[in-house]
Amino acid sequence: MEKWQGLEQKLFMRTINRLPVTLVRGQGARVWDTEGKEYLDFVAGSAVNSLGHCHPVVTKALTEQAQTLIHTSNLFYTVPQVQLAELLVDNSCLDRVFFCNSGAEANEGAMKLARRYGKLRLKGAYEIITTYGSFHGRTLATVAATGQDKFQQPYIPLLDGFVHVDYDSVEAIKAATTSQTCAVMVEPIQGEGGVNVPDDSYLKKVRAWCDEKGILLILDEIQTGLGRIGSLFGYEQYGVEPNIMTLAKGLGSGVPIGAFLAKERTSVFAPGEHGSTFGGNPLVCAAGLATLKFIIDNDIPAKVKKMGQYFIAGLEKLKAKFSFITEIRGRGLLLALGLTDNIAEELVLACLKEGLLVNPVKPDALRFMPPLIITEKDVDEALGILEIVLARRL
Ligand SMILES: Cc1ncc(COP(=O)(O)O)c(C=O)c1O
Repeated sequence: MEKWQGLEQKLFMRTINRLPVTLVRGQGARVWDTEGKEYLDFVAGSAVNSLGHCHPVVTKALTEQAQTLIHTSNLFYTVPQVQLAELLVDNSCLDRVFFCNSGAEANEGAMKLARRYGKLRLKGAYEIITTYGSFHGRTLATVAATGQDKFQQPYIPLLDGFVHVDYDSVEAIKAATTSQTCAVMVEPIQGEGGVNVPDDSYLKKVRAWCDEKGILLILDEIQTGLGRIGSLFGYEQYGVEPNIMTLAKGLGSGVPIGAFLAKERTSVFAPGEHGSTFGGNPLVCAAGLATLKFIIDNDIPAKVKKMGQYFIAGLEKLKAKFSFITEIRGRGLLLALGLTDNIAEELVLACLKEGLLVNPVKPDALRFMPPLIITEKDVDEALGILEIVLARRL
């Protein structure tokens, strides 16, 4: 076994089975391993490297900020943090921001805010309705929120106050709503659950129900936000506005940053009720600012929409050729191929050998979440490799 992989096996807690490749360098949509082998990266750090690897605007922002001011804690005002907050607020339907370090933390904060709102405005209501197949993170509260047995079973008893219902069913949400409900939390498209796209009317119906009951709608846009599905935020495509939205992944093009945003009247925290030592420090906010500015200034969401359509057209051709492809799911550059059998892991290893990184989001589904800046040539190359790999299964 290769040196670094051997050391990892010896030193690390056994929480993940990594792919047998050690990556040492990245540029654009490409990465290289210790042997110098090149890969086309359609995983992008799990939908994180939105501008690809080491994009010059991100590298420049990080380098300059690293030479100026890296960290201060939130006991003080810092400039990049305020600039990023302003850009987020100016370009979304939300009014106030809290910065943190990951998606799970963003959801934790959002759920704390919803509980605080419930205490202050909804007679102590504290329950949050989430959906089966969702993924909201790995902390104890976000595991309780996540509607998937495999993430919950090892940690029972779970935190109280979460009710799970079927995805894409407003009737299920209605049936689960009680006087204890303070919020509904959903992903516009379920990412880790397999790239599950609800009916176009779903979010609108959920929004209307939340309005009728006076409860909050939290949209987890950690995977769908920042251009990934072809609009700056997923909610724009469904004609709704959330009370709270969570972001992370693509916000910093690779640096660990998360955020949750809220409408003015939902923003009920008082000083001291929430906090983070690292959250939104100057270094990560400089990267976030460079990333978000680039996404907005270059209308990346429109490009993602177009590139997504191009990619889907190519995947449709593969579907017509290989009977074990059941469907193509997703929007923009968050796409998946459904398969008749549990062969996703085997296909991922075969793609790896051919120089393409893809993700087995489910045993029977392959997920693609490339950098948002990929070209038609990159898509053609990925489709070519997929075709070679899939043809071996015939
Ligand atoms: C929709 C969604 N929410 C939350 C998370 C958790 O984010 P993190 O791994 O940064 O804690 C993820 C990660 O995959 C996600 O896809």
